Amino acid sequence: MSPNSKTRIRRFSPLQRLFHLLLILCFMTQATTGLARMYIETVWGQRLAWVFGGYTPSRTIHIYVGIFMLCIFALHVLYMLSKVNWRKFPGSLVGPDSMLPQPRDLKESIQHFGWLLGMAKAPRFERWGYWEKFDYIGVCWGMCLLGATGLLLAYPLVASRIMPGWGLNVAFWVHKIEAILAMGHVFIIHFFIAHLRPHAFPMDRAMFEGSVDLAATQHEKPDWVARLEETGKLESVLVPEAPGWRRAFHYVFGYCAVALGIFLLIVALVNSLSITW
Ligand code: HEM
Repeated sequence: MSPNSKTRIRRFSPLQRLFHLLLILCFMTQATTGLARMYIETVWGQRLAWVFGGYTPSRTIHIYVGIFMLCIFALHVLYMLSKVNWRKFPGSLVGPDSMLPQPRDLKESIQHFGWLLGMAKAPRFERWGYWEKFDYIGVCWGMCLLGATGLLLAYPLVASRIMPGWGLNVAFWVHKIEAILAMGHVFIIHFFIAHLRPHAFPMDRAMFEGSVDLAATQHEKPDWVARLEETGKLESVLVPEAPGWRRAFHYVFGYCAVALGIFLLIVALVNSLSITW
């Protein structure tokens, strides 16, 4: 097969991939600096903070990267609003290209679990699987919760003008619990889906290269490929493989993120009884 044969389907635009790349960088920084603060009583937490220049600089980095991440999220919301077909609103919010949950997702999730247990046929997924919508909505929800509570904690004097002091204690616990849930979800479930799923192993390169393998997608998301064929759009979205050096770079970057996430998860778990909860 020639290196220029078009064997992949375009799935994400360069701007969407940039949003995802910034999210990876910000999330990893937030997880590392956040855990440095949470585990500062332990030698591991102190070493983690040392990487960023100590306790105070790592807290400052956590706050500024957090604010930067919220700005990127605000831009992403504006970008999504610009993609809505307002002439056909609200009908344009549903359909196979929409990220909003629809009745089909519930049906497919039940059928998928049946398939995992060997009791049903595999669902014929469309463009977005229910797990992808769940991940996306989870990020939006997490941004709002971590962002709101993080800002209250970052500016406690301003916050205490609009709420009682115990509200900050609640904000701290909400921030901590949501951060643990987010890190657990990303480092276990998201990494498993992106790397170890049979259709993706050894790594789903879609978010780095912007495209997915046609043959694997025909198998995993047959209704999407069928729709592209029926509407005559398939040819126009087919693209060739990325050059080898770029693929190698994506693998190295992707696996570095996985290694860091799993490292943080394991050492945090091992040290979890050594901190004051
Ligand atoms: C991916 C997102 C985030 C994660 C994983 C995360 C994680 C954490 C963790 C683990 C802690 C330590 C909790 C403890 O000590 O028990 C923390 C504290 C904190 N976070 Fe975040 N965080 C995130 C986003 C944000 C954002 C967006 C802001 C807003 C600017 C923010 C501001 C803060 C502040 C101010 C503290 C308390 C620091 C202190 O009082 O010393 N965080 N975060």
